[in-house]
Amino acid sequence: MIEKSAEIMVNVENLNVKFGDKQVVHNVSFQVKSGEIIGLFGISGAGKTTIIRVLTCQLNKKNWNGNVKVTDLNPAQSKNHPKILSNIGYVPQLEGLNLYYELSPMTNVEIFASTYGLKKKNAKEIAKELFSILDIPEDTWKKRLKKLSGGEKKRVSVAIGLIHQPKILFLDEPTTGVDAAKRYEVLSYLKKLNRKLGTTMFLITHDMEAALICDKSAILRDGKLLEFDSNDNLIASLPSGGLLTRLTIEDLTENKIKIIKNFTPVQKTIRVGNEIIEVFIEDFEENLQKLIEYTIKNNLKVTSMSKDNATFRRYFQIRIQEEEEKERTLRESVQIMEGEA
Ligand SMILES: Nc1ncnc2c1ncn2[C@@H]1O[C@H](COP(=O)(O)OP(=O)(O)O)[C@@H](O)[C@H]1O
Ligand SMILES: [Mg+2]
Repeated sequence: MIEKSAEIMVNVENLNVKFGDKQVVHNVSFQVKSGEIIGLFGISGAGKTTIIRVLTCQLNKKNWNGNVKVTDLNPAQSKNHPKILSNIGYVPQLEGLNLYYELSPMTNVEIFASTYGLKKKNAKEIAKELFSILDIPEDTWKKRLKKLSGGEKKRVSVAIGLIHQPKILFLDEPTTGVDAAKRYEVLSYLKKLNRKLGTTMFLITHDMEAALICDKSAILRDGKLLEFDSNDNLIASLPSGGLLTRLTIEDLTENKIKIIKNFTPVQKTIRVGNEIIEVFIEDFEENLQKLIEYTIKNNLKVTSMSKDNATFRRYFQIRIQEEEEKERTLRESVQIMEGEA
């Protein structure tokens, strides 16, 4: 039997964005299928919000070019905007929440629902279902919104983003400003919504924990898309499929790290603490014993050692570090060439 291929929700080919002379998005391409949760990761200024602004019809066409389709419609044409906007929902950052704090969650939902032309009764029914999935306590549905906690307010805004039952939901920094203990809760609600409603989701974030619920992650740096794949595939692309050994070394110095790097089977190292280094070696099982012998021979005092799998956070750090090293090498070779000229 031929499996029906999943519907393409977002298709981006060679997207470039410029503000004046400054290019902030470079040749970005990716594709998102129905029901996927996509994480957009990158440090501040990487271009995450800008890309989402293109997809959500918020950026003037004069600033960008490329072949972009959102639910099969091109946001470059303003005649497509009403249809695209009815197919998508957008939840801004906590500070940007556009809510009526003197009114109740239910009334807030009704107001936003009416802007989509939804009937009050219909809106109430959908709201009740969303509030329940989002675990917004029933006794708060009619309280003034300002009495609710930050996490509850955020969940009300997620409910509003979903009230017109969009195919795609865009969330800008959904866990920023939510305290650490509640962060995981917000993420698990999003996953639950995705499972129950099948909503495709984009999470813009610099919170690496969010990767836990993402089917795929996009890693952006300086407007360039470095990677776009499932977290398992990304981690598996590391040496030994992401298997690493974590060493605590007494008086760890750059020089001692260099000694470790010089050991041939070592493919990558990353310093993760004052005296802690994680080491990726090829043929892990075979070379671990040799690495131990090598550290002894080189008078490195290893006080503890463990074996672990790389997390997405670590993958992200390594990938960014790699890019920084590439740039440094390039800069140095340009300097040498300029020196010779
Ligand atoms: N309207 C604008 N005019 C000029 N520069 C902008 C504008 N919007 C964003 N930028 C610049 O584009 C880059 C990417 O910004 P942004 O997409 O907001 O990054 P992120 O969301 O990843 O933090 C930044 O250097 C930012 O200063
Ligand atoms: Mg941003």
